[in-house]
Formats: sequence, structure tokens, C-alpha cells
Amino acid sequence: MEKILVIGAAGQIGSELTLALRKIYGNENVFATDIKDAPKDVKKSGPFQLLDVMDDKRLIHFVIRYKISQIYLLAAVLSGNAERLPLQAWDINMRSVLNILDLAREVGIKKIFWPSSIAVFGKTTPKIDTPQLTIMEPNTVYGISKLAAERWVEYYFNKYGLDIRSIRYPGLISYKTEAGGGTTDYAVEIFYDAITTGKYECFLKPDTKLPMMFMDDAIRATTELMEADADKISIRSSYNLSGLSFDPEELSDEIKKHIPDFEIIYKPDFRQAIADSWPQSIDDSVARKDWGWKNNVDLEKMTRIMLKEIKKKLIHR
Ligand code: SER
Repeated sequence: MEKILVIGAAGQIGSELTLALRKIYGNENVFATDIKDAPKDVKKSGPFQLLDVMDDKRLIHFVIRYKISQIYLLAAVLSGNAERLPLQAWDINMRSVLNILDLAREVGIKKIFWPSSIAVFGKTTPKIDTPQLTIMEPNTVYGISKLAAERWVEYYFNKYGLDIRSIRYPGLISYKTEAGGGTTDYAVEIFYDAITTGKYECFLKPDTKLPMMFMDDAIRATTELMEADADKISIRSSYNLSGLSFDPEELSDEIKKHIPDFEIIYKPDFRQAIADSWPQSIDDSVARKDWGWKNNVDLEKMTRIMLKEIKKKLIHR
């Protein structure tokens, strides 16, 4: 029986992925951990403990004690926050990955999932249908740390045969747990403000098109990649993954179909430069070919679900 450790289980991805993994592997076999308290359903449905990925001694104890066979490392400082505290972000983003890689090699972990991001690309990368293999010159701290870690992940696979799998997530849109400190966060915040105040002040310009994905698709991509046969995985750095591509104006037009009086105003801040350095759309043909990836949720469906679920959540608060 697999024993799974999720690091960052209170975060935007972790709070949903933990529940999905518990459905597959059994509640008691998925150990949720974070440095902060997790949502109720994560704590109620299975084991949860406070654990800091930077504390390598406690981490190794934990892994041995619970006979962990797979690790999902989701803890990271996102792009906007990383620009505010560059050296701390670099330290956290790199040391967490290196801690896990080395622990995994030492203890003999069977499989690891670690997320990369569209932030590994930079201004010199082709912006439209960005290929899997292309120019990569990120100029954000977050992007540099993700690209460096991609190289390390591939290195550990080549050198030690460690089975690490990864996805370059686009901006992720979800209603359960809000993101924090990212550049694509506007596409989540906008729904809360649309429902509560009917207005949103956007920190990106109206035509800033970015690759995005609804969380259900991202979770399914993750579990499908992790369950694929190892011989199907040709990419050992990180897979390009495509879902949706839209800009703030297109998203606000979609919201207006449901809330006709919704107003958006634009006040770009330092995150505009980050967004401008990222692709507008992603070519994910390698993921499609290797392990059969296919996106399901489009902009219209995502908007409908987000508005309905956030309304429900706000009423029950
Ligand atoms: N969503 C992330 C961010 O905006 C990108 O991976 O930082």
C-alpha cells in the first residue's frame, strides 16, 4: 500500500490534491502537512500535522516513521511574493526541493511530484504556443528558482534513477482555497470581488493574456501523470500543460454575462512586468502524446462554476 506525504496541504493546490489522493489511496494513507493550519475537510478526512519542509531532520523522521513511499512537494513562494523578498524566496524554493530530492534518494522514495510553472519562460521565449523545448531565460526570482529546480529534478532522475514527475502549471483557478502572492491570482480574486462588491480593480492590463487552468483539470492532470507507466514519461524536467488562455477583459466579459453591472478598472502594478515576461499560450502536445492529457473545462464553464461555488461559500461563512 502506498503511503503518501503531501507538503503544502493547506495551500491552493494542496487542499484539493490531498482530498483527490485520499479518494485514490485511502484516507489514512495520505498524510497532509503544512506550516499553517489546513482547511477543515483536509483535517477531518485523514491525518494532518504541522511540518516545515525546511526542517530536514523532522522531515526524515516523519518519512521513516510513517513509511512514506510517495511525496508531493507543493510548498513554494509564488511570483509576486518572491519579487518582494527575493533571497528568502530563492532559499525556500530551492532548499525545499533539494531537501526532498536528497531525502528521497537516501530513504528510497518511490515517486515524487513537484510542480514547476509557466514562470520558467521569459521574454525571449516564443509567446504563442510555447513549445516544450525552447529558449528559457526567466527574469523573475520565482521563474529562476523553478527553472533551476527543473534542472535538479532531471539530474536526480538521470543520476540516481529517482522517479520524479512534474508539470509546468499555468495560472490555477479555484474556489476552495485562494492562492497567495502570485501574478495569476487576479483571475481568482475577480470572482470574490464581483460577487461581494460588483467591482474589481485589476493589477494587470486588460489585454494581458496568460495561460490558465481550472483546478479540477490541474488535479486530474497531476493524478494522471503520477499514475502513468514510467516508460511513458519522456520528460523528466517538467511537462508543458495547456488549459485556457484569456486576458482580464475576456474574463470580465464572461462574468458580465452573469452579473451585467460588473465593473472592472485597471491599475497595473509591478506584477504587469512579470506577466509580460510569460507566455500567452502553451503547446502541450508532448503531455498529450506521452500520457494522454486533455483539458476539459473552458472559460464559460469555469466562470459558471466559480460564481456558483463562491456564492455558496460566502453564504455559509
Ligand atoms: N500562478 C503562479 C504565479 O502567479 C505561476 O506559477 O506565481
